[in-house]
Amino acid sequence: MLENRRILLIVSGGIAAVKAPDLIRRLRERGAHVRCILTKGGAHFVTPLTLAALSGDKCYQELFDLKDEAEMGHIRLSREADIILVAPATADIMAKMVTGQADDLATTALLATDKPVMIAPSMNVMMWTHPATQSNLQILKDRAVKVVGPSAGDLACGEVGNGRMAEVSEIIAALTRFFQKSDGQGPLTGLRALVTSGPTHEPIDPVRYIANRSSGKQGHAVAAALAELGAQVTLVAGPTAEPDPDGVKVTHVETAKQMMKACTEALPAEIVVCAAAVADWSPQNADQKIKKGADKTPELKFAENPDILATLAQAGPTRPKLVIGFAAETENLIEAAKTKRAKKNVDWILANDVSPGSGTFGGDSNTVHLVTAEGVESWPTLRKRAVAERLAERIATFVERNL
Ligand code: PMT
Repeated sequence: MLENRRILLIVSGGIAAVKAPDLIRRLRERGAHVRCILTKGGAHFVTPLTLAALSGDKCYQELFDLKDEAEMGHIRLSREADIILVAPATADIMAKMVTGQADDLATTALLATDKPVMIAPSMNVMMWTHPATQSNLQILKDRAVKVVGPSAGDLACGEVGNGRMAEVSEIIAALTRFFQKSDGQGPLTGLRALVTSGPTHEPIDPVRYIANRSSGKQGHAVAAALAELGAQVTLVAGPTAEPDPDGVKVTHVETAKQMMKACTEALPAEIVVCAAAVADWSPQNADQKIKKGADKTPELKFAENPDILATLAQAGPTRPKLVIGFAAETENLIEAAKTKRAKKNVDWILANDVSPGSGTFGGDSNTVHLVTAEGVESWPTLRKRAVAERLAERIATFVERNL
């Protein structure tokens, strides 16, 4: 997919610039042509000579370089690429992209380009979570700038949190998917996928509800990963703070019953992935707010909710070809997942430990065991995005062999 693609790599001034040489090497191994622009800040971390040697091209740095303007002006530089990749993208360059500042070669090329732009942000966690950066991010996304990462972990500044530049392999995967998509193809092109994500809220009365700690991170990541491989994805999402993934049709619901209805309406689909933490029971719902001070403490009466996964997996001519569920367990993880797989007539189950301290609910990482008819495969602890991508790749392999 990267063969003969022309990538203009802008290396801006963050510690993650040290990953640029590896990125260039791996892109060139895949047949891509890489040309670099190095900002003044970037040059504090990596030398132009290194980038030039590895890219096999000149490393461009100066806006007012007469020789370059004659041979390769900033306009041509930005137009002669198939994509501009900013890696690392600092908070500063993101802000400049938003306001259209053009005070050096990198920002001028970004403003002058008519080509797609991808950024791999990298910065301190407080800078990343600052409302200014988050608002800039949203504006860039609204302008169709592709974003890969950042991920959570130890940061160079000594703090821990979100802000690490995506791994080189993740950037390469994002570029690959971008070119697949722009060619109108992917291994899941032509297939429909239905994904559930997030918690459900089961009302007790008009102001109170019962919920769980699911954030929707895992399910949303699965939907995004399937869409990036070309599937036409419908995501049925319970209440979450996660943004709607790009290129995915999203139906927002609150309760298990609404989720069931939305899933049924989203059929037919060839692939189903149920990652939602659906409430197993809903309380009897009072029409008016339950008042304090009555004679006795109110008692909640529960009724069982529909099992969405089991319903979708029911045998029959309309059954999706591949039905995948998750199993959230606090004990006997694998055995319980095997039992669930058989009981719900599911093809694959991703078993994850949700014991206190596991960080699975709401966290950024997950340790899953893929349980299939063939056996159990334990995956290392991965970021939820990487779990989703790995799952999407497995689905693509299944599709190649069976559909
Ligand atoms: O949302 P995050 O914070 O990222 O956390 C991710 C997660 C822990 C929620 C996710 O990885 C996960 O494990 N999802 C399934 C949670 C769950 O409800 O597990 P379960 O073992 O109770 O249910 C088994 C399967 O049946 C699941 O696929 C579930 O979606 C499905 N189910 C359960 C009950 C029900 N009424 N309808 C269902 O479809």
